[in-house]
Amino acid sequence: MVHTAVIGGTGFDQLEDLQVIDRRTVDTPYGKPSDELVTGRLHDREFLFLPRHGASHTIPPHRINYRANIHALKSAGAERIIAFSAVGGIGAAMRPGDVVIPDQIIDYTWGREHTFHDGTGDFLDHVDFTHPYSPALRSQIIRAAKRAGVEVHASGTYAATQGPRLESAAEIDRLQRDGGDIVGMTGMPEAGLAREAGIDYATIAIVVNPAAGRGGGPITMDQIRLHMELGALRGIAILQYC
Ligand code: HPA
Repeated sequence: MVHTAVIGGTGFDQLEDLQVIDRRTVDTPYGKPSDELVTGRLHDREFLFLPRHGASHTIPPHRINYRANIHALKSAGAERIIAFSAVGGIGAAMRPGDVVIPDQIIDYTWGREHTFHDGTGDFLDHVDFTHPYSPALRSQIIRAAKRAGVEVHASGTYAATQGPRLESAAEIDRLQRDGGDIVGMTGMPEAGLAREAGIDYATIAIVVNPAAGRGGGPITMDQIRLHMELGALRGIAILQYC
């Protein structure tokens, strides 16, 4: 049974160097996950892998079936999830190519199926979400980054927006006033669902652009792709020690 799952984000739709052991199409009471679940070996460690946007990157952030993804990983035995995420940098310290291990999150998303506790079960539960990312798993990732020689921001607040459009400069100003350091579109409800499912969850966020109004020009997909490639190499280097 595989205990560690990796959810791949933009730029991580395929984990390069993953030796595939098994591929499974699965179904869940919540519908189909984004893609097949792949079990594979990366640098002698076994991982379960699921690309959040589908293997060919076609599912936009607001259409991802987050419940099915988390349910499928739980059913496959995942006890911890390392989630990769491409983000915009809000604060000046968050530069393109940087790696951030966030410790807090603010949810600005709407209209997404965001809970397993929707009144259809036997009891109503309100899970604690004071520390939305698993402190133990975050520490492990930060230690792994040190061993891999990858510098990371060891904390930060992830502002989760709806997408798929990028934000206006005024929206980014507001997120910064709220305490946001980085901005992405998929952090929620994924983190909340993992908590409800009792899975340790942490994020390796790769800054791929200065957020709107922070970079002195429009945000382009070319710019995002360029920094994603560098960030992906750093992320995979960290994984080998996780
Ligand atoms: N905003 C929201 N999501 C993102 C960004 C951004 O600037 N960059 C990558 N994902």
